Amino acid sequence: MAKVKLNVKVLRYNPDTDKKPYWKTYELETEDDVTILDVLNEIHWNIDGTLAYRRSCRSAICGSCAMKVNGRNVLACETGLHQFNSHKLKIEPLPGFKIIKDLVVDLDEFFAKLERILPYLILKKPTPDKEFLQSPQDFDKIQEAAMCILCGSCTSSCPSLWANEDYLGPAALLKAYRFIFDSRDDGTDERLDIINDRNGIWRCHTIFNCMEACPKDIKITEYLSRLKVKATENSI
Ligand code: FES
Repeated sequence: MAKVKLNVKVLRYNPDTDKKPYWKTYELETEDDVTILDVLNEIHWNIDGTLAYRRSCRSAICGSCAMKVNGRNVLACETGLHQFNSHKLKIEPLPGFKIIKDLVVDLDEFFAKLERILPYLILKKPTPDKEFLQSPQDFDKIQEAAMCILCGSCTSSCPSLWANEDYLGPAALLKAYRFIFDSRDDGTDERLDIINDRNGIWRCHTIFNCMEACPKDIKITEYLSRLKVKATENSI
């Protein structure tokens, strides 16, 4: 552990008072084993209390601290300073979303799209009295997709969404995959009807940005490709 001097540029914007976003630079000294969230906390608590950003769990679970650091989408709480070969940081809000203030973006539309794909188990058959068993093989099909923490990193990095804001986006489609391929679920037809649309799965052009941006390393593009096959089979 050693002390390092940091030069941190943060994109600031308050729509109530600023005409457009601007860069503000902070110089600070910290330990070299801290996270990006620690750096933001140091700025917020000891240098500039007006800086706005989201955080909650500090454990890479809640997804609220997603932001862009030195050009890539990361979770601030799990990303260490040592992951950047520089003591200069450029921190911006997730691209593609409206800025509420500084690093806090408006996720209302993101969660509205998630709601559209019916993100819960739909059961039409009688449910068992006790556990609803699933074989390990069936669980394997959805295990990785179910690890999504809805941080928005994938959706904000998707060029198809930048071009068309009505596109459902990778996070909502990944959630659709998670339930459509769940052996216990009976809502496949409803969900395929929803995603088999010009603003649904066919807007995915297999660009792979979502996979690169995912802090949980979920193979999103691969799962969306399986959804395309399923949607095609279903409509034949
Ligand atoms: Fe919850 Fe970072 S604070 S994921």
